[in-house]
Amino acid sequence: MCGIVGYTGHRQAYPVILKGLKRLEYRGYDSSGVALLHNQNLQVHKKKGKVADLEETLIGKNLEAQIGIGHTRWATHGEPSDRNAHPHLSSGGEIAMIHNGIIENYALIKQELVNKGYSFTSDTDTEVLLNFIEDIKKNNECSLEDAVRIALKRVTGAYCILLIEQSNPDTIIAARKGSPLVIGIGKGEHFLASDASPIIEYTKEVVYVNDYELAIVKPDELILKNLGNEKITPFITKLDMELAAIEKGGYEHFMLKEIFEQPNTIFDCLRGRLDAKEGMIRMSGVDLNIEAINKANRIMIVACGTSWHAGLVAEYIIEELCRIPVEVEYASEFRYRNPIIHPGDIIIAISQSGETADTLVALEKAKEKGAFIFGVVNAVGSSIARISNAGAYTHAGPEIGVASTKAFTGQLAVLMMVALNIAINKGTITQERYKELLVELEAVPEKAQAILKNANELKVIAEKYKDAHDFLFLGRGYNFPIALEGALKLKEISYIHAEGYPAAEMKHGPIALVDENLPVVFIATQDVYHEKIVSNMQEIKARKGKIISIITEGDKTSPTLSDDCFSIPPADEIIAPILSVIPLQLLSYYVGIAKGTDVDKPRNLAKSVTVE
Ligand code: G6P
Repeated sequence: MCGIVGYTGHRQAYPVILKGLKRLEYRGYDSSGVALLHNQNLQVHKKKGKVADLEETLIGKNLEAQIGIGHTRWATHGEPSDRNAHPHLSSGGEIAMIHNGIIENYALIKQELVNKGYSFTSDTDTEVLLNFIEDIKKNNECSLEDAVRIALKRVTGAYCILLIEQSNPDTIIAARKGSPLVIGIGKGEHFLASDASPIIEYTKEVVYVNDYELAIVKPDELILKNLGNEKITPFITKLDMELAAIEKGGYEHFMLKEIFEQPNTIFDCLRGRLDAKEGMIRMSGVDLNIEAINKANRIMIVACGTSWHAGLVAEYIIEELCRIPVEVEYASEFRYRNPIIHPGDIIIAISQSGETADTLVALEKAKEKGAFIFGVVNAVGSSIARISNAGAYTHAGPEIGVASTKAFTGQLAVLMMVALNIAINKGTITQERYKELLVELEAVPEKAQAILKNANELKVIAEKYKDAHDFLFLGRGYNFPIALEGALKLKEISYIHAEGYPAAEMKHGPIALVDENLPVVFIATQDVYHEKIVSNMQEIKARKGKIISIITEGDKTSPTLSDDCFSIPPADEIIAPILSVIPLQLLSYYVGIAKGTDVDKPRNLAKSVTVE
């Protein structure tokens, strides 16, 4: 949540920052702003709304500067407004700061500052921290760097902050705890950002700043220190990402591009790991830790949002194939209760961004208690990837659309391989079944392609139901979590209320909602439950509900009960969820388009939720 960008070097800072903010808009788009420093003149511009609104207000202005910072906000403290937008200026007007995170003890610090005569122009915790820093600087007659260090020792909460000051023409001071920060190293220039997307155009050499580290960044110099003022040698990583991966590539929206990328992203995820011909899966994260995994009495899965749905699918698959009990936890609940964790327990952490605050803190707590963390993460080098003891990347590439699509199918592919790998090692699956499932998994990219060819059918269905006020999504077994994911996607993108339910459980409540105005989406692909789900369709039909069903090609029964059908290629029931979710992603996309919503940046949401 909130995207931050900074630049110091020989280029004009504003265009670099503006482009960077546009790339980071998935992190929040309530307001944005920039602070630019030139000839001791510190100018701040900010605007409620999207980065494009800020850009428009700055047309024709003199924005000359070779150092600057910029921010795109997801509001926490204070409504979205020009006033609450970042950067904030200190009371003396000499320091500008941007912040991603939440300062939890801001009220106490604010009171202290108010008692000293400070007044505030915004409702933000950020302005409090900034004036606190300014106050320390004044009182101690110290440098900005020292003042930041002293202030951060008193602060609780999460932050990534960037500061520039009038009297220091080329230096950005940055610090992080809990919110991400990457520094790109160029020739005579440095780039700072919440993730690498604003940086890759200029350099592939980056440093991921760790918690409790402070960076002093000048065009020719990067100094990293801990909060104890000791120097740390920056660890330079080479980015494995191309610019094309973060551009729309001819698609109208990132979401559509990412849905259509899935045959390739799933293939990339399987590549080098799955070898159906040889009958094997190679995953070093599992192979090197197989003893620990085999000994585990249970597996806990911790995640949020769409990643949590991937965890639910994994629960069904791991229990079926590996015979290990699995519990799936919302990270936000897990972190605050007192979960029973024994040394050696396995926790699978699932996260696209690798930065979700709730997931990260839950893992830190579990790790302290001796759990072994296996990360299933998309963003390479992210905090969750780094805190994990082992793991497997999903290799879906940067996901920019706020609603997760290709990361989800990547997570499912990884989790299926993990389950198969454990099962064959534990001996809980026969060689024959194992090989059969490898062949099935290998065929997924091609089948995903076949589904996408018929995307237009879903556009027609979307047009037909776009004005509904509610939707119900029903599935059983492996497809129950897919019903939840279908409902979540529709809510996120179209703002239509939607609920996902296990199809049989529908009788215990949601059936009361059914009438001729309620579209009910059945995920009714061929599996052991098929006859049962057909009975559930009958129950809806008897009450005049409108039935949209996602079925397996060749199914003769479901179409007779459905108002609209979409067929997907036949697949083993364990593998089917990776395919059955794709039509639901397309359905929400097209409903969103038909309703005119901003599908890449749905209201109130953010992609990377770095606050709790
Ligand atoms: C946000 C995003 C969701 C995502 C969830 C978990 O709510 O909008 O798309 O599923 O966070 O994020 P993670 O990066 O941990 O998978």
